[in-house]
Amino acid sequence: HGKVTKVCCIGAGYVGGPTSAVMANKNPDLQVTVVDLSIKRIEAWKSDQLPIYEPGLLDAVKLARDGDGGRKPNLFFSTDVDTAVREAELILVSVNTPTKITGTGAGRASELSYFESAVRTIAEVATTDKIIVEKSTVPCRTAENMREILSAIGHPGVNFEILSNPEFLAEGTAIPDLMEPDRILIGSLNTAAGLSAAAALADVYAAWVPRENIITMNTFSSELAKLAANALLAQRISSINALSAVCEATGADIEEVSYAVGLDTRIGRKMLKASVGFGGSCFKKDVLSLAYISETLHLPEVAAYWRSVVDINEYQKDRFTKRIIQCLFNSLKNKKIAILGFAYKKDTGDTRESAAITVVESLVAEDAKLSIYDPRVEEEQVWSDLKQTHIGLPKMKENVTLCSSVYDACADSHAVIILTEWDDTSSGMPRMDWAHVASVMRRPMFVFDGRNVVDKSKLEDLGFRVECIGKPGSASFRERGSVPSGRKSSQEGSPV
Ligand code: NAI
Repeated sequence: HGKVTKVCCIGAGYVGGPTSAVMANKNPDLQVTVVDLSIKRIEAWKSDQLPIYEPGLLDAVKLARDGDGGRKPNLFFSTDVDTAVREAELILVSVNTPTKITGTGAGRASELSYFESAVRTIAEVATTDKIIVEKSTVPCRTAENMREILSAIGHPGVNFEILSNPEFLAEGTAIPDLMEPDRILIGSLNTAAGLSAAAALADVYAAWVPRENIITMNTFSSELAKLAANALLAQRISSINALSAVCEATGADIEEVSYAVGLDTRIGRKMLKASVGFGGSCFKKDVLSLAYISETLHLPEVAAYWRSVVDINEYQKDRFTKRIIQCLFNSLKNKKIAILGFAYKKDTGDTRESAAITVVESLVAEDAKLSIYDPRVEEEQVWSDLKQTHIGLPKMKENVTLCSSVYDACADSHAVIILTEWDDTSSGMPRMDWAHVASVMRRPMFVFDGRNVVDKSKLEDLGFRVECIGKPGSASFRERGSVPSGRKSSQEGSPV
């Protein structure tokens, strides 16, 4: 394989869009075409209302898509999959690989039908040699299976090389993650053709990533490394969340525990923030996929170990809602409650597997009246998520209102529940005017902080009862007749 001049990316989603934008940006001579079956998505990518929200994404897209000064446009969006595939030498496959919902492995195994269908399209239309790149997260050995399909249906004389090149970007920080990745991982066959394909892909990345950060290995290791990375990241969150339950029961403070352990360089500080639980399209699906693979390899102990990471996450969400119900005197019927944040984390409009969906479902089951505020999530998206719960849309519509202002959401409410750690100046929950909120809420006023973003003692001074994750609540302390904890001095300077 010589130098790559044309790249096609199949799948214009959270991975395909930003990855292609950065690749095109950093390689002005490379033509990058992103294709998708969804006309709506492709039209949005061609406009200034991109289909996904990521800080810095619009600028990155515009520069390559529209060109600027001396720069020629080199990023294209299209629904003509066949043409883009036929023309490209290198094809990134970044289609969705969600959890299977029916059949063998339902609820655990990865659904590979979109991936296989994209590979079949490539095999059918390709008339020249192609390098196919697995960008989607797939189970270990997928490349091997795809090789079989390609050799069975590909045109005679056309050679395919499959590489594994998993994506490690995190939503909300996709652009900086892509601009300065910790590492680029490329897995290939250890043959002359495999190594040369890997080298061609490495050259594309080398336009902006230092060579020493581009690592190569065999395909199986590379595929498994992606699942391993997500499993380990999710495991840290579940570990700190499991400890948060111990904190709530003892009077220890998870923020202090996390700070203390994180200073150990072997442990490190990142991903040790206790919360209502992790969400997002990847952690749960990838951990369950790893557990399922382990199960099929007759490693039940390994499967159980990884499954417990997801179990703790479900337990954490459940514990949080139970605490809300208990604090509100075990009756939520017709009580107005504000839900602040619906996205699974800040700086994204993505709601896939958001803890908010589970919490809202449990509270509506108690007949609470919820007003939801999120600065980034589209109304249509909230309804579509709520429709898929056990409660169903009619009752959701009866019990849930969507608000465009955080203060409207809080007015007349018995409690405020923070589910996303929005912290930008304009709409961030920790910076909002809590004194004003206090003036419009019903008494007693509760704040349930599922992200540990508010300054507990400042809010307590305003008369709120504050329940954070992994800290003893104000209510329980009053019951026991002791003084609320929280050394005010250590909190000074942080936003209320
Ligand atoms: P997504 O759902 O946002 O995008 C996938 C796109 O592929 C959709 O627009 C869909 O219409 C399109 N598609 C499906 N089948 C197609 C076909 N045969 N031809 C053309 N287009 C097709 O998914 P997302 O979040 O971008 O994830 C993609 C993959 O990347 C998944 O395997 C995921 O596990 C992995 N990943 C996701 C990360 C994230 O933060 N979202 C991070 C790292 C990896």
